[in-house]
Amino acid sequence: MKNPLTPIKAIIKDIRPEAEGVKTYTLSTEFSFVAEPGQFNMIGYPGVGEAPISLSAIMQVGDSTLRDGSFKHTIKSVGRVTDFLKDFKKGDELFFRGPYGRGWPVKKAEKRDVLIIAGGLGLAPLRPVIHLILNSRESFGDVSLIYGARNEKNMLFMDEFKIWEKDISLYITVDEVSDVSKSPHPPFTKEWSGGINVGLVTDLLDRVKIKPERVIAFVCGPEIMMRFICRGLMMHGMSQSSLYVSLERRMKCGIAQCGHCQHSGLFVCKDGPVFSYKEVRGLPDGVL
Ligand SMILES: Cc1cc2nc3c(=O)[nH]c(=O)nc-3n(C[C@H](O)[C@H](O)[C@H](O)COP(=O)(O)OP(=O)(O)OC[C@H]3O[C@@H](n4cnc5c(N)ncnc54)[C@H](O)[C@@H]3O)c2cc1C
Ligand code: FES
Repeated sequence: MKNPLTPIKAIIKDIRPEAEGVKTYTLSTEFSFVAEPGQFNMIGYPGVGEAPISLSAIMQVGDSTLRDGSFKHTIKSVGRVTDFLKDFKKGDELFFRGPYGRGWPVKKAEKRDVLIIAGGLGLAPLRPVIHLILNSRESFGDVSLIYGARNEKNMLFMDEFKIWEKDISLYITVDEVSDVSKSPHPPFTKEWSGGINVGLVTDLLDRVKIKPERVIAFVCGPEIMMRFICRGLMMHGMSQSSLYVSLERRMKCGIAQCGHCQHSGLFVCKDGPVFSYKEVRGLPDGVL
């Protein structure tokens, strides 16, 4: 029987600078890789280690660039593994295990309004949800994306906003406006119909028309942000079971064997990383 911890080789087909310290890697392997929005891979290199990284694009969503079964990870360089990856080039090999975990309940969102709320790097695991909705737009009600980053240099996927906003409402905010001349992106103009706001993601909740009985919300970002967003949405009348969050915990095996990711009896790697707010609110080792 194949050892589930044996890594699989992948070739880097493309690397794209995404934001400050963040790159998106397009990977391919010898088989067609299929996963669900919100799942993750353990990405690594022998002798260096592994880190859990969400899929930021997958074949299932019908992205025309991914018909060959390739997949994407958007990675911020913060430590041992991610720093090692940052010098990789197109054509290099790296290793992965996965896909793992329980992703966003997209089926449950069909025929409902969908609120996608992300902070910073939290947009990466939600991008496959956006792609899937765009590919099957008639299956969903009103769809809104509220996205905030510290400044435009930290914002992901800006070049896709114009495409997204044709079918979903975009609410974009930055905590601060930095020097646009140093931005890796084109100048941060008010090109999107919602314009650019300055302030916290939570400030934008009042701008969206929320029909609590119809809406489902997918939230990903720093835990403290998710806490305030979920509480804000509950004040708009939403129930805890219609709110979903994605949790980050340190992981080792990714398959519920080592216990590293345990969160009050839940295995974040297997039972999550996506949980309903009802499942994880108030657990002692979190801030939700
Ligand atoms: C389900 C899931 C999905 C994720 N998706 C993404 C993604 O899409 N993109 C992405 O960039 N990241 C993602 N992450 C986060 C990523 O896995 C972590 O940042 C990971 O720690 C990076 O590994 P590293 O070896 O590069 O960094 P590490 O060496 O693990 O260091 C990461 C940070 O943790 C600190 N640290 C190191 N050791 C410890 C310790 N023992 N205790 C506490 N803090 C410590 C370091 O100082 C540093 O700030 C995800 C995490 C999870 C759980
Ligand atoms: S990472 Fe080992 S149990 Fe979750």
